[in-house]
Amino acid sequence: MLIAGNWKMNAASMEEFGTMLERAPEVAAKGVDLLVCPPFVLLHRLAEAAAGSPLPIGAQDCHFAEAGAHTGDVSAGMIAEAGGTAVIVGHSERRTDHREVDALVARKAEAAQAAGLKAIVCVGETEAERDAGNAESVVTAQVTASLPQGLDPARLVVAYEPVWAIGTGRTPSLDDVAAMHGAIRETLSARFPGSAIAILYGGSVKPGNAAEILAIETVGGALVGGASLKADDFIAIALAAPQAG
Ligand code: PGA
Repeated sequence: MLIAGNWKMNAASMEEFGTMLERAPEVAAKGVDLLVCPPFVLLHRLAEAAAGSPLPIGAQDCHFAEAGAHTGDVSAGMIAEAGGTAVIVGHSERRTDHREVDALVARKAEAAQAAGLKAIVCVGETEAERDAGNAESVVTAQVTASLPQGLDPARLVVAYEPVWAIGTGRTPSLDDVAAMHGAIRETLSARFPGSAIAILYGGSVKPGNAAEILAIETVGGALVGGASLKADDFIAIALAAPQAG
């Protein structure tokens, strides 16, 4: 189980982060992995504060190039140097705000792994796509096109985040989550036979719904936005995960 926090363009206070650090061993003792992904400018500071703790730090995006003339961008290697161990790529807000397409997401995932990072690749359908009955075909096509063949499945995580559930307080039914995760698993097994890539659910995960979502057999954890800014909520979500093994 991985519970990853995506702070987006928000900063929790150092006090909140300090509480997360203090409580991280309690989560680790349950066999649950944590990850916090702050904005770039906080990455180094948090990674330093968390050194030696079971609370790794990641980033929310990276460029596919190693370095060069890419104003405003940050490379995967820079994230690793700053102390990051993972990076989220293809989040729906990147796909919308920055018009990122699957082929670009795939290059970013490759760059992340080349720099030694874990790549967390996000996919998810819009409400219109779900209403039209196309959710599974849209999402499995995203999975295929966003994950290049050469990726190392051991350092790959897929996050299913229905766009309409992000930040809205709405979530799919547990059956819909299970069905989608099953479809993603089938697609992953075809591409990476025999691998056990974790598939997270994301979209309005809170302490109140975490236990039932994380209890779904095919759900390997959660990508948490809003609720990851509050230490109590974030830790409560992680502690709601079923015991490993
Ligand atoms: P949310 O965001 O938990 O605030 O809905 C999830 C995400 O976008 O990763």
